[in-house]
Amino acid sequence: MKRDALPIPTFVPDIQPHHARRARLAKQLKRGLLLLPTSRETMRNADSNYEFRWDSGFYYLTGFREPEAVLAIQLGPRPKHILFCRDKNLEREIWDGFRFGPAQAADTFRFDAAHSIDELDARIPKLMANAGTVHTLVGTDAAWDQSITRWLKAVRGEVRSGIEAPVEVRDVSRDIGQMRLIKDASEIAIMQRANDISSRAHERAMRAAKPGLHEYEIEAELLHEFVRHGARQPAYGSIVAAGANACVLHYQENRAPLKPGDLMLIDAGCELESYAADITRTFPVDGKFTGPQRDVYDIVLAAQLACIRALKPGTSVGRYRDVAVRVLSQGLIDLKLCKGSLDGVIESGAYRQFYMHGAGHWLGLDVHDAGDYKQGGQWVKLAPGMVVTVEPGLYIRPAAHVPKRFWDIGVRIEDDVLITRGGTRNLTSCVKRADDIEALMRG
Ligand code: GLY
Ligand code: MN
Ligand code: MN
Repeated sequence: MKRDALPIPTFVPDIQPHHARRARLAKQLKRGLLLLPTSRETMRNADSNYEFRWDSGFYYLTGFREPEAVLAIQLGPRPKHILFCRDKNLEREIWDGFRFGPAQAADTFRFDAAHSIDELDARIPKLMANAGTVHTLVGTDAAWDQSITRWLKAVRGEVRSGIEAPVEVRDVSRDIGQMRLIKDASEIAIMQRANDISSRAHERAMRAAKPGLHEYEIEAELLHEFVRHGARQPAYGSIVAAGANACVLHYQENRAPLKPGDLMLIDAGCELESYAADITRTFPVDGKFTGPQRDVYDIVLAAQLACIRALKPGTSVGRYRDVAVRVLSQGLIDLKLCKGSLDGVIESGAYRQFYMHGAGHWLGLDVHDAGDYKQGGQWVKLAPGMVVTVEPGLYIRPAAHVPKRFWDIGVRIEDDVLITRGGTRNLTSCVKRADDIEALMRG
């Protein structure tokens, strides 16, 4: 049966930055063949897949979001950009929706050529011949590694005809990761909006919380706020943790009831146009911090603010980690939860009983974004365009040597901070001073 093609979906990203990144990477790599697949579809149960999420590095370079796609660039003085993707299939499109097909994809996403994904085995060995070096993913996906091996064998089987097989297969993820570390203006605009939506969602959660509700009811407030602004997914599994659950760092159950006197820790951010926000706020379920909760909260806030002040271009990314440890350790000494001198508590690692994670990470297309933290044994220096999370916390589990009034208090405060030429811009606008949180919850 003949069918008319569906119209191209309205959401296609601005291709210009993706195209420019591809050109920049090609220039940097100089020679050889770049081969980069998107992610694989993964079965969830029976015949249902997990919702497909394209590979971030692949998306960064292409803007293309369909599964079963491979980017190839024949490097050299005039690089040739090629996309392999699914064929048009008007019958399948009735069931699953629009797919570009090679011809429309080449046109829309500015490739020099595009071919059916079914032609990989026929075409890749030809592209590999005489390429010298293959820049690809190595050791990320076993099936992809096998494909590379299969294609290499195919080229090696043809050397008697006068072609030369590649002599080097190298991992290209670091090159792409280092590019991703510095966000361009289009990325910063999206990340600001992802943060605005997520900040609103956190404030909505604070307003909605009260004893008697369940963690999932607060999660629903967050998700509704994300989705109604067009951010259809959280960037990672939302942590919505009341009471003792706040001390479980990657808590995901989100089922417990909210009890009077509980603190609630929410670590949640939306994914907007493939970019993550990553925000944590901690607030009292009934709108008023108890004395010990407030004491712990103010130490974490002081640490967080000190970390943000320590961020600026040229300083090492390791420095704000040290600042977090110093301020939190002093706070633990002041609360008599740790004993001894500040240097002693830091050197012995005694603070780690209450603070056992890092102060933050790169943020971008992935919540724990790509990019080196250390090079040659030295922490990377901050530069304009980098985005880091700043997320110190204290988690006090019941223990014989810990006064009972502190038991089950878990506090983390997390903002997303852009490094600018003049210093920093905090992308996160959600309230965070204890008084402001209480005022918002009263209102
Ligand atoms: N939400 C994950 C993290 O804060 O690293
Ligand atoms: Mn987080
Ligand atoms: Mn984080």
